[in-house]
Amino acid sequence: MQRKVQVCETLPGLWTALAAVWRECAQTAVHTRGYFTAALSGGRTPAAFYRVLAQEQGLPWHLTHLFLADERLVPPDSPESNARLIRSTLLDGLAQPPAGIHFVKTGFLEAAAAAKAYEQELLQAMGSLSAADPRLDLVLLGIGEDGHTASLFPGTDALAEQGRPVAGVPAAPGRRARVTLTLPFINAARRVIFLVAGSGKRAILATVLAGGRELPASRVATPGVTVEFFVDREAFPGS
Ligand code: 6PG
Repeated sequence: MQRKVQVCETLPGLWTALAAVWRECAQTAVHTRGYFTAALSGGRTPAAFYRVLAQEQGLPWHLTHLFLADERLVPPDSPESNARLIRSTLLDGLAQPPAGIHFVKTGFLEAAAAAKAYEQELLQAMGSLSAADPRLDLVLLGIGEDGHTASLFPGTDALAEQGRPVAGVPAAPGRRARVTLTLPFINAARRVIFLVAGSGKRAILATVLAGGRELPASRVATPGVTVEFFVDREAFPGS
């Protein structure tokens, strides 16, 4: 597994660079398979990127299916909702809606039940596109300061899940119950991109890039796939 880092001097430069890669991924997928599937993360970092992406012209949204890398079990209108973030920063800005928007149903009391429901939706959607190949074209991830990615937190059963594509993450002190794509499903994707910005992420990014395998973000690794890091100068350890 290779890691490739693209350092951008400014945040606008970072969004532009990532939008170009999104376009490349989407066009390649549509040309090859007739559709494009991507899983998006929440959090603060990608919000500005989603706003830029919404303004990009000529993207094949009518052939694009969006999924969530993870979601918190909160109401859809909660400020903590990743679906709300993506709706307000990306979807509301699009001239035409994507072919598929697959958000997590969060009205469940238990994370395991929500995960099972999302897994069924994910596999049904991917199966309807290609019965033979349920791999995402792109997964866009962030990194938390503890090295988590999606909702794969250190020491959790979800991180250890090796069979199913989706796992539930029970609530913990200071952390909502969540649903997350699992490592095997993320690692099966054709392209995995981390978006990391800000000086607060410099230390954890250095550890992840050094390959500290005990961290969830370090375990995003696919044989034969180069995991890409799009970072600003602030977050880059070599700055
Ligand atoms: C979430 C994200 C999570 C995020 C990291 C980084 O639901 O919060 O999926 O994995 O990517 O926590 O978040 P920031 O971009 O806000 O630093």
